[in-house]
Amino acid sequence: MALLEIRNLTIYYRLSEGWVHAIENVNMDMENGERLGLVGESGCGKTTLAYSITFLLPNNAYLKKGSIKFLGRDLTTLAVRKDGRINMFSEGLRGIRWKDISIIFQSAMNSFNPVITIGDQIAEAILTHENIGKEEVRKRIEALFEIVGIPKDRIDSYPHEYSGGMKQRAMIAMSIALNPKLIIADEPTTALDVITQDKILAELVKLQKEFNSSMIIISHDISIVAQLSTRIAIMYAGQIVELALTREIFKGPRHPYTMALLKAFPSIKGEKKRLATIQGSPPDLINPPKGCRFSPRCQFAKERCLIEEPLLREISPGHTVACHFAEEVSGGR
Ligand SMILES: Nc1ncnc2c1ncn2[C@@H]1O[C@H](COP(=O)(O)OP(=O)(O)O)[C@@H](O)[C@H]1O
Ligand SMILES: [Mg+2]
Repeated sequence: MALLEIRNLTIYYRLSEGWVHAIENVNMDMENGERLGLVGESGCGKTTLAYSITFLLPNNAYLKKGSIKFLGRDLTTLAVRKDGRINMFSEGLRGIRWKDISIIFQSAMNSFNPVITIGDQIAEAILTHENIGKEEVRKRIEALFEIVGIPKDRIDSYPHEYSGGMKQRAMIAMSIALNPKLIIADEPTTALDVITQDKILAELVKLQKEFNSSMIIISHDISIVAQLSTRIAIMYAGQIVELALTREIFKGPRHPYTMALLKAFPSIKGEKKRLATIQGSPPDLINPPKGCRFSPRCQFAKERCLIEEPLLREISPGHTVACHFAEEVSGGR
């Protein structure tokens, strides 16, 4: 059975100006032990898509359609009201968060409660799911701190007494505390310096392998995701536009947006290359462009692209792309 099966997922945010089309018709599968990278420019819906898996969304988020099956069970039945509004506090989700699915937040810097010690916050997550004594919880946290490289004598410190890197490590400790099946890491190291970033990411993957968890790694930087993921999903304006094995994405990108992203980042092999920027900016998601959402920025766009929305289709085994002209465009690296 697939670990995760997302079908036609469509999530909008309600604003007084209209509906923000944050996620539209997303289809995505994940298997056990897999590391899937989610890449795209800021605002393309990465966080909304990833957090929707445990419905950790603000209260103006609505499920317009679609399903999210986790080990065969449709999670939308747990957290969605009749009118589509998402209830992130729904009781049914508490049993899943941290235990089955954990999230390393984009803003780990301020996602701990400032008036509770880090140790107590991790203990609370553990005790929500397991009926064990104080001593045992303490031992578990000590072991976790050892794994992520925080000295044991810092368990009773408050978040403000931690450095940024340490807070991130504490967040990782919390994310693996209950040995979840899926870990979602949302830009887990963006706020850290490059050396700490590399170290923490390498450790994270080591832990994921050791615990045999699956992982979704989100970044706006395709070169970071490339080092960590087995497959990559490229997102643009609320949709997945290309999905394939990491090496396929690099060797033979088929979507013009993927090609542009690859040109906009330095090569992972470290060869010197001029960084190109992608012309224009992502569209307004209240009124997304008709046809292909990337067409206003696409150098290959033809009339058909302005009228007809391209659907995600398989162009070779395991490689899907949403572009009418995927077989014809070229310009990868
Ligand atoms: N609470 C909200 N209300 C309205 N719009 C939102 C809200 N949260 C995010 N958005 C919008 O939804 C879109 C997707 O955002 P997000 O998922 O955070 O993208 P990413 O993680 O790729 O930067 C963006 O256009 C963003 O401005
Ligand atoms: Mg985000």
